[in-house]
Amino acid sequence: MPSAATQAPVPAVHVDEARHWDRLMQMARLGAIPGEGVNRAALSDLDHQARRLLLSWGAELGLASSVDALGNLFLRHEGTDPTLAPLLAGSHMDSQPKGGRFDGIWGVLAALDAVQAIRKAGLATRRAIEIVAWTNEEGGRFAPGCMGSMAFSGHSPPNTWDDTRDREGLRFGDELARLLAAESDIPRRKLGFTPFAYIEPHIEQGPLLEAGGLDIGVVTGIQGSRWFLVEIAGKTDHAGTAPLSLRQDAVQDMLRAITALNALMADPTDVLRFTVGRIEVEPNSSNTVADLARFSIDFRHPDAAILTERGDAIPATIQSAMTTCRATVRETFHALPARFDPMVQDAVEAAALDLGLKPRRLPSGAFHDAQFLVPVCPSGMIFIPSRNGISHHPAEYSSPTQVANGTRVLALTLLRLASM
Ligand code: GLV
Ligand code: MN
Ligand code: MN
Repeated sequence: MPSAATQAPVPAVHVDEARHWDRLMQMARLGAIPGEGVNRAALSDLDHQARRLLLSWGAELGLASSVDALGNLFLRHEGTDPTLAPLLAGSHMDSQPKGGRFDGIWGVLAALDAVQAIRKAGLATRRAIEIVAWTNEEGGRFAPGCMGSMAFSGHSPPNTWDDTRDREGLRFGDELARLLAAESDIPRRKLGFTPFAYIEPHIEQGPLLEAGGLDIGVVTGIQGSRWFLVEIAGKTDHAGTAPLSLRQDAVQDMLRAITALNALMADPTDVLRFTVGRIEVEPNSSNTVADLARFSIDFRHPDAAILTERGDAIPATIQSAMTTCRATVRETFHALPARFDPMVQDAVEAAALDLGLKPRRLPSGAFHDAQFLVPVCPSGMIFIPSRNGISHHPAEYSSPTQVANGTRVLALTLLRLASM
């Protein structure tokens, strides 16, 4: 068997661009929405179908499948020494409610096609390579995101989100049980293990690679994120008869709270990210004063000190903005900034250069499952360009050559790391 060093670029040759694209487009049909977008919520029937499709491709290749208690799905390519810690590569298969065809799913299919290329090249690896599809990375249906990787890594106990409900009132715990029952034919594995390394391929979701005419992002780390859920309770009243001075209007106090938060989050350097992306009002009627306003906060920063200081100030800022209503503030997600391992970064960069591709090191503004693997094993990510930097939108696009190039880089990186 040729060594990885002498056969360095070989697996890349076996990445079949047409097949890779076709698999992506087959997945994109599961949850297709107008404008070439995808809506495939975590643990939905469409998610079940997408997982079955992935499992069928894994079975054709002879990969061994398994699933853990959080529904994280694995496909294993065996190594020549099965006792060694495996290399782990993948991403997620759920999408945003109005998402694109690439966020998440490309990383899973890149890992599948990279493994297929290594096998096609006839190259054995010392270490096993496991392809992973993490459960609920987006958090669009059940907030927050990254539940599968947070439970896998021990960041949070696996039952943390059992009572989290979607808009229809369905519990995460029940929907997870439904998935696991539907996949009872898949061998169950223990939650969590220590991989040799973890690599996540993903679209950049920003404009830098495209603007620089570059092929590959070598991701250096991920900024920190904190999510909060705010509920403001007031009292319903008749919009025509109740004097303003006597109202407890939840919408008006919500507006005061958001205005105060905008002041707290002011940042002349424009590095800080602050988003109120979801608002619900009850009873949501034009001529009734709202007795409940609920909104989400997504706050991000690369500096842990700023993330901590301003994030910790959020509850008090909201409370001091209340005039007649009562606010409750609950933190639902807290991910510190993460730095990726130099060994993984170097391996990705070397693979790109060996393939004649142009890499650039850059940090990620989006969060990813990879940041929860950082405390567990050497971790890193491969980015490919996103057209116009657009993501979390149906117009999200990377070309057949761009996705195939990312998969080629992954195949070579996996081959080298799995031979260590
Ligand atoms: C991931 O989807 C994020 O919101 O960063
Ligand atoms: Mn993603
Ligand atoms: Mn996303």
